[in-house]
Amino acid sequence: MPGTRGAVPVPLHTNGGQRDLTEEILEAVDQHEHVPTAEAFPSTPQDKIKAALDRLASRQMVEYETHDKEEVHLTEEGQAIADEGSHEYKVWDAVRKAGRLSLKDPSLVNASAKLGQGNAFKLKWIKKDGDALVSLTDSVSDTTRQQLQHAQEHRAFQDPKLLKDYSKRKLVNTQKVIAYVARKGPRWAKEMPVEVTDLTAELIADGSWKTANFKPYNFKAKGTLGGEGVGGGTGALHPLNKVREEFRKIFFNMGFEEMPTARFVDSGFWNFDALYVPQQHPARDLQDTFYVSDPPEAGPPGADESMDIVLAEMDVDDDQDESDHPSSDPATRAKETTAKLDYQAYYDNVRAVHQDGKYGSIGYRYPYTDAETRRLVLRTHTTAISAYVLHRLSADPRPCRYFSIDRVFRNETVDATHLAEFHQIEGVIADYNLTLGGLQAFLKRFFRNIGVPDLKFKPAYNPYTEPSMEVFAWHEGLNKIVEIGNSGMFRPEMLLAMGLPEDLRVYGFGLSLERPTMIKYGISNIRELLGHKVDLGFIESNPAVRLDRE
Ligand code: PHE
Repeated sequence: MPGTRGAVPVPLHTNGGQRDLTEEILEAVDQHEHVPTAEAFPSTPQDKIKAALDRLASRQMVEYETHDKEEVHLTEEGQAIADEGSHEYKVWDAVRKAGRLSLKDPSLVNASAKLGQGNAFKLKWIKKDGDALVSLTDSVSDTTRQQLQHAQEHRAFQDPKLLKDYSKRKLVNTQKVIAYVARKGPRWAKEMPVEVTDLTAELIADGSWKTANFKPYNFKAKGTLGGEGVGGGTGALHPLNKVREEFRKIFFNMGFEEMPTARFVDSGFWNFDALYVPQQHPARDLQDTFYVSDPPEAGPPGADESMDIVLAEMDVDDDQDESDHPSSDPATRAKETTAKLDYQAYYDNVRAVHQDGKYGSIGYRYPYTDAETRRLVLRTHTTAISAYVLHRLSADPRPCRYFSIDRVFRNETVDATHLAEFHQIEGVIADYNLTLGGLQAFLKRFFRNIGVPDLKFKPAYNPYTEPSMEVFAWHEGLNKIVEIGNSGMFRPEMLLAMGLPEDLRVYGFGLSLERPTMIKYGISNIRELLGHKVDLGFIESNPAVRLDRE
């Protein structure tokens, strides 16, 4: 038969040349109209029989019925009777052998001998003669023994009424067993046919699909567990993704919208200049930043359509007021927003505020170069995205909350807790007349939501925020205060250059995703979490986390 996998005969000999059970069943069904499996295969476990029957039944070669039945088993006492005779028989036998057996004989004192004596009287096998017993007959038929022997052999009584009697006497008990009765099916064949597993182009072309014997699907097959064997593996979420989902939930619950961040490579303009990072700042050194050499440079700052469409979708989603009749079609809306923005004017503002000072700031007073602004970098923080999004906000300034969780890159020395790339969690909040106290209150609430109470704040420096605060918290495991984030209020040099109104203030804060993940999963070396040394078993078996619970 044609086809790459086309005809695949189902192997019959799966146990090293021994006859396969399916083959034995086919043989038995061939010879007998009905095959009660319990009798035909007394030493094979019925679940194995069922598996083999299912294999044949799914191909309609064999049909079977399931029979629940009660099997009679002898108790220890019942077994003794079947082996040695009933109590009455043993008494009669002793009397017969002795000729006369004294009533005081020690063999007559135990309980079963008393029972046997009574029965033997009733059966008229023996009688009392003075103080002794004598036999009334030369031979007896020990029905009890015979019936038990029969039950033992057939696992049932000839007369079902006997079951009740013998059960009551605790000589037998019953056990439920499932067995099957197999017979030929509508597509009976004595041998497993060659089966086709794939419908191929050749089968269709030469018409042989019409008569081909396709292997049936087994819809009852149990799936393999995740990660087991070749092809059996199911997906598993990486711990970073699990923790990321937790953070996303918390942000959404606190009224944040998620910024689009699919922009690993960005220009010096968005990554640094827009954030009022001077062009000579040490963070822009080759030691700290990865530069991209091909393509050699970015174009002038402008609208990024793929970002804008996502932002426009968000705007359409939470559009309540229709005052200036914005479009509800995201593509149109994105264009409307872009039309309100002047990227050239923004760029000129950024240059002016760096080089000459503007908005009441004396600036850095250095010659600002176009070349530096166009250099392409692997973004060193997602704040580059926040800058882009905040600039778009100037088209329609309003209170809003944005967050992002994505990858950033830093050309730093790699050690047990740092890699050259990590994930930054970042949030920005824009509102009128915000204060530093408000930022502290917000951060306390945010970190309480992720299970970190009692923050400490330390004044810090960022080129783009003033004031800036590092965020610290007590770490139970390490038994000391550790830095968990960075925050601040964006500088007017940054926001006013974007064209945002003077009284609109913006909080910003950031933290790494790796740090809380490592703490939650008790990982001390980042290489256990990321990179080629990661143990897949750990990824597959790690539990879900709740940030707000221990
Ligand atoms: N970009 C900062 C960092 O890399 C985080 C931050 C974002 C700080 C916004 C202040 C405001 O750590």
